[in-house]
Amino acid sequence: MNGITICGTGSALPENCLNNNDLTVMVDTSDEWITSRTGIKNRHIAKNETTAELAALAAQRAIENSKINNNEIGLIIVATFTPDYFTPSTACLVQSKLGLNDVPLAAFDINAACSGFVYALTVAGSMMMQNPDKYALVIGSEIVSKTIDYNDRSTCILFGDGAGAVVLKHKDNARLISYLDSSGNKDILNAPICDRRSGTVSPPLKMNGSEVYQFAVETIPKCITNVLEQAKCTLEQVRFIICHQANSRILASAAQRLGIKPDLFVTNLERVGNTSAASIPLLLDEMNRDGLLVRGDKIIMAGFGGGLTWGSVLLEW
Ligand code: COA
Repeated sequence: MNGITICGTGSALPENCLNNNDLTVMVDTSDEWITSRTGIKNRHIAKNETTAELAALAAQRAIENSKINNNEIGLIIVATFTPDYFTPSTACLVQSKLGLNDVPLAAFDINAACSGFVYALTVAGSMMMQNPDKYALVIGSEIVSKTIDYNDRSTCILFGDGAGAVVLKHKDNARLISYLDSSGNKDILNAPICDRRSGTVSPPLKMNGSEVYQFAVETIPKCITNVLEQAKCTLEQVRFIICHQANSRILASAAQRLGIKPDLFVTNLERVGNTSAASIPLLLDEMNRDGLLVRGDKIIMAGFGGGLTWGSVLLEW
């Protein structure tokens, strides 16, 4: 796959925050337990914002950062497992919020849980080959809090809400290298949908924490080495690895397996928790706005999560 680069980023977080001390009032836990097990101190939890609103805000900021006009967008893909509707898709809602109802473009959602952004980037990259004059919006947006039982201390401490977006453009010889995989398993991590025929409310997200942990530490090195081998380059040539932000212990353990310093893995977990498909573009936007990314830098993005799904992308900033 050839010819794709990121030309702008944006993100959006709900106003309302929930820190570890707030959680100690809700469940039997402590700041010390959460911080030492996960690295998370704070997360943003939507009160009024919807998945599409956060997605559109992040997208508008990414468009502004790219210095293009809204009507130059030819493709919108939103990665989410927490959409507002079965239909219309979050991407169609974003299209409308950006005032693009009459602009010809393809808009659809992808659900690959926490790997969703990497899946969406890959799909957008291959679709853009057919329409190289247009820009693509790839967004990760989640209100994970709507799937969470705030009486379950093993899950409610982990997740937060948010959105991140990138604008992609065609660029000759800028390679986007991708690896995607999945293993069809609903027992380790699932968030069921309510079926109106059963008359029940949607059951909350359920997770086997230690199995997810094991899966993640084995999967991250696989994701990274796969794209490095495809690109015929070494870890030393990579400026940053932006992993799905699930847990700082997972990142430290994966770094140890790869024999690299943990600081090659950037993180914002402490401030936003695990925002599923939004985590990678949210962090990328922070890095971009902090001036950490230099054109020509090689970066790897790696995701893993429900499905089970996992994957990675290597590209030049
Ligand atoms: N506060 C205090 N104690 C808690 C707790 C909390 N928030 N959550 C669980 N515990 C308790 C458990 O009940 C258990 O108690 P017990 O021994 O009396 O039964 C004890 O802590 C240890 O539980 P355990 O599950 O072994 O903890 P852990 O060290 O494995 O850490 C996770 C739990 C969830 C932090 C860890 O498994 C993890 O990070 N998993 C990956 C989760 C993830 O990233 N998911 C998203 C992937 S996309």
